[in-house]
Amino acid sequence: MSKEPEQPEPSRGRRALLRGAVLLASGLATGPLAAKKTDARKLPAQAGDELCFPSWEHDGRMLLAGEIEIGATPLLVYPRDPATGVVRERSRLNQILVMRFAPEDLTESMRPLSADGVLAYSGLCTHTACGVSEWKSDEKHLLCPCHGSEFDPLQKGKRITGPAPRSLPGLPIASRGEHLVIAGPFTSKVGANA
Ligand code: FES
Repeated sequence: MSKEPEQPEPSRGRRALLRGAVLLASGLATGPLAAKKTDARKLPAQAGDELCFPSWEHDGRMLLAGEIEIGATPLLVYPRDPATGVVRERSRLNQILVMRFAPEDLTESMRPLSADGVLAYSGLCTHTACGVSEWKSDEKHLLCPCHGSEFDPLQKGKRITGPAPRSLPGLPIASRGEHLVIAGPFTSKVGANA
């Protein structure tokens, strides 16, 4: 009686490949074989995201529109995915400054960006991407302390002085109950370089 031909034994390298294929097919792969997972905290700000303090300030709670006072120093917040509660605080590109003006101080062209006098801007300077961390309360200008660029939030973030080559990107916002949400993309590229 003729004997069934035996399957040749797979080589060591081929055995590893076959094992990897089985693990991937069953979703059990770990380590280098696993697909790289994206950190949701690094994803860019998106329309519909809520504005929230980062985990290292105010216990990471949601920002209340009512706590932003007219003319006060801008607050640093980050976008929060309303579906998952993930705060996108692991990317500097997501730093957002919010401030409030009297609604009558806003020109017609500024109003679509605002929610009841509240305006939002990128927190990164357009020169070399330092944090725009200071506020000139008399002029109501945002100031980057690295090389002294100043931006006017009432003129769509226009550069007033300093080496920054362009305006600070604005971020349209809207109200959702007592909270604020992102209503659209930044008006220009965030950070250094056009
Ligand atoms: S990085 Fe802001 S002025 Fe240079």
